[in-house]
Amino acid sequence: MNVLPSLRDPAGFDAAAAWRYLLDLRHGGGASLPATVEPEAQRFLDLYLEFARAGAARPMVLAHLGQSLDGRIATRTGDSYYVNGPENIDHLHRMRALADAVIVGAGTVRKDDARLTTRRVTGSSPARVVIDPRRTLGSERRMFADDGTQVIVVCDATVTPSLRLPGHVEVIGLPTAGGQLAPQAVVKALIDRGLHRIFVEGGGATVSGFLAAGCLHRLQITIAPLILGSGRHGLELPPISRLAEATRLRWRLFPMGEDTLFDCDFRS
Ligand SMILES: NC(=O)c1ccc[n+]([C@@H]2O[C@H](COP(=O)([O-])OP(=O)(O)OC[C@H]3O[C@@H](n4cnc5c(N)ncnc54)[C@H](OP(=O)(O)O)[C@@H]3O)[C@@H](O)[C@H]2O)c1
Repeated sequence: MNVLPSLRDPAGFDAAAAWRYLLDLRHGGGASLPATVEPEAQRFLDLYLEFARAGAARPMVLAHLGQSLDGRIATRTGDSYYVNGPENIDHLHRMRALADAVIVGAGTVRKDDARLTTRRVTGSSPARVVIDPRRTLGSERRMFADDGTQVIVVCDATVTPSLRLPGHVEVIGLPTAGGQLAPQAVVKALIDRGLHRIFVEGGGATVSGFLAAGCLHRLQITIAPLILGSGRHGLELPPISRLAEATRLRWRLFPMGEDTLFDCDFRS
C-alpha cells in the first residue's frame, strides 16, 4: 500500500512525509521521492534513509551511544536518565522503528529495565534482543512483555539457567571464549532469523564489544553539553600506544536539540 499521497505534491514533502516514506521503505514499499523536499525532510533522509533501505541483500549493524562531553554514558551508580535531550530520545525511538532488531547488553536491562518500544513515534517495535550470557535476567523484566513482538535472549550455550523465561522468549545459545560471545555470531544468528537491520542501543560494554570485533557499519554518538566528571565510559577498547593506531572515521553531524549527533561510518 502506498501511504504517501503527499509524494505527488513536492511542496508538501515535510518531515512527517519523509517519516512516512521511510517507514514505507522499511516495510518493503516502493514509493519514489519527489525532486524537491523541505530541509527538515532532507535531514531525516540523510540520517535514516540508508538504514531504512538495508535488508537481506545488504544487512546493516548500527550502534548508538549518548554521552557527556567527557565521554560518560551514566553516573557511577548507573543513572543515565537522561544524558541526552528529548530530541535524541525521539531519534532512538525512530531508529527502533526502522530496525528489525534492537540489541542491548544485560547491564542495561539490569539497570534501566528498558521496554525497547517505539512509543514516542509512529512505527512498530522491533524484535528485542538482550545479550545475557549467564541468564541473569528474570521474566519480570519489561523487555520480556508478551506484546506480540519477537523477544530473544542470547546466552552462553553451556549455561544452566536458574531463572525461567516466558514461553514466547526465544533463547539462542552460542559458544563463548573467556565468557565472551563473539558479536559476529550474534549478528549471524539474527540474520539467520530474517533480522537484517540491527540497532545496538547500548550500553557501553556491548557497543565496545561490537566495535572491537569490527561488527559495526555505523556508529552514532550523541554528545550532550554536560560534564559528569566521573561515571561509566561509553567506548572502552583494547589500549593502543600510538595515535596512528587510532580509528579515524568518516562522519556527519546532526543537531539534536541541544545535543550533537556524530554519525560515523566504518566502511571507508
Ligand atoms: N547513554 C547511553 O547511550 C546508554 C545506553 C544504554 C545504557 N546506558 C547505561 O549504561 C549502563 C549499562 O552499560 P554497561 O556498559 O554497564 O552494560 P551493557 O553494555 O548494557 O551490558 C554489558 C553486559 O552485557 C553482557 N554482554 C554484552 N555483550 C556481550 C558479549 N559480547 N559477550 C558476553 N556478554 C556480553 C554481559 O553481561 P554479564 O554482565 O551478565 O556478563 C556484559 O557485562 C547503565 O547504567 C545504563 O543506564 C546508557
